[in-house]
Amino acid sequence: MARISGLDRRTFLRGAGASALLGAVGVKPVSATNLAGGSLTGAPEVFDFDEVVDRFGTMATKWDGAVADMGTEIEVGMGIADLDFRTAPCITRALAERCEHDIWGYQRRPAAYSEAVADWNYRRYGLEIDPSTLVWTTGVLPALIAALQTFSPPGSRVLMNTPTYNGFYSALRFTRTITEDSPMVFSDGRWEIDFDDFERRAQRASSFILCNPQNPTGNCWSEEDLLRMGEICLRHKVVVLADEIHCDFVNAGQKYTPFASLPDREIVDNSLTFKSMSKSFNLAGLKVSWWFSTNPSLQSRCRTNSRADLHTLGLVANHAALTEGEPWFDQALAYLDENQSFAESYIRDNVPHVHYRKAQGTFLAWLDMREISEAIDAPGIAARQTAEGSTVVAPEDVLQRWLAENAKVFLGPGDNFGTGSDGFMRMNLGTPRSNIQRALDNIASATATL
Ligand SMILES: Cc1ncc(COP(=O)(O)O)c(C=O)c1O
Repeated sequence: MARISGLDRRTFLRGAGASALLGAVGVKPVSATNLAGGSLTGAPEVFDFDEVVDRFGTMATKWDGAVADMGTEIEVGMGIADLDFRTAPCITRALAERCEHDIWGYQRRPAAYSEAVADWNYRRYGLEIDPSTLVWTTGVLPALIAALQTFSPPGSRVLMNTPTYNGFYSALRFTRTITEDSPMVFSDGRWEIDFDDFERRAQRASSFILCNPQNPTGNCWSEEDLLRMGEICLRHKVVVLADEIHCDFVNAGQKYTPFASLPDREIVDNSLTFKSMSKSFNLAGLKVSWWFSTNPSLQSRCRTNSRADLHTLGLVANHAALTEGEPWFDQALAYLDENQSFAESYIRDNVPHVHYRKAQGTFLAWLDMREISEAIDAPGIAARQTAEGSTVVAPEDVLQRWLAENAKVFLGPGDNFGTGSDGFMRMNLGTPRSNIQRALDNIASATATL
């Protein structure tokens, strides 16, 4: 497949007479580095993911938000799914260049930007996307909301494998649809689909939100699993909404299978796929994503509900990531894979009340903390607080607060992730390894006497 990757920002800057402004304002100097992110000496650039960057005071949800939520000092924020790494220097350079041309009028999106998305997916996964079918939006969640508004009328049911990403529940609330949780089975540290339950529930659902790879369990679904879910959905006229935002995070020896690459045209044509670079390059605050379908009918129906008010800087950052950021991303991925291995072995050796088996993908760890929950009587405290107050308190909310107060670590509470999450908490491993060790040491000390 022929691919074009244009560097429109440079063309633009040449036209604007600003090409001499490279490396200006606010760019961290990277010695002996050329514009493309390589070393002028020819050696590949090595990026430092061990650097701890203080994000407190930057209004970061993961850090300042954790303190605000808990009302107590937090040493390690490990909640919302973003990375604590400086992004790829090619992105910061591209943004700085664009900022030098300080006119912020309405912005066109060159065709090369869609080509760059298609290139990335073809290069890395062999997935062929027709660039003309890509619909750009401000985020995967807004795009999923557009899809739900298209295929799932208010009051209809939306199927999900649970535990699953908590944001889906807010999309369901917004679209006034009802969750149809199909709880997965936890066996030998792995979460597996209960296909009988899945099919029973599919019969009364209008759409299915697939999370591939799965947040929070990290499962990278096999072709066989995807085909089986896809076939059930096709048979029961359930549209598949494949959220593949985490697809770039696949650990060594594992495989991401794009739903749109399945070897059954009818199954693929019953789906839409939602993606972005916002997890891969930590660009969530810059609000750009895209979706597509191989089915022109589904595509045009959903397009009417999908609105994109994209930001110039978001477009510039994403284009730089897609065209120049791969060396940075590959190193980030290797680092995160090691973070997962580190967390698994460190927990096994040092944190006896927590259990974790390395995830197949994502930079998230779905921790089994049922022993701690029981030891602190989180269910009993939650029941009492619910009876005394005006809101429902879940045992995992109690556990979250206990960990914040006793270990100074902020984790995502399991109950936010749907049915079957009792006693589980989500830890974000997208951070320098020293932060992970600090958090686990704190948890080990806090729980030593339980
Ligand atoms: C599975 C999944 N989908 C969607 C999102 C949110 O995506 P966006 O910020 O593009 O709306 C997240 C963020 O954590 C996620 O984990």
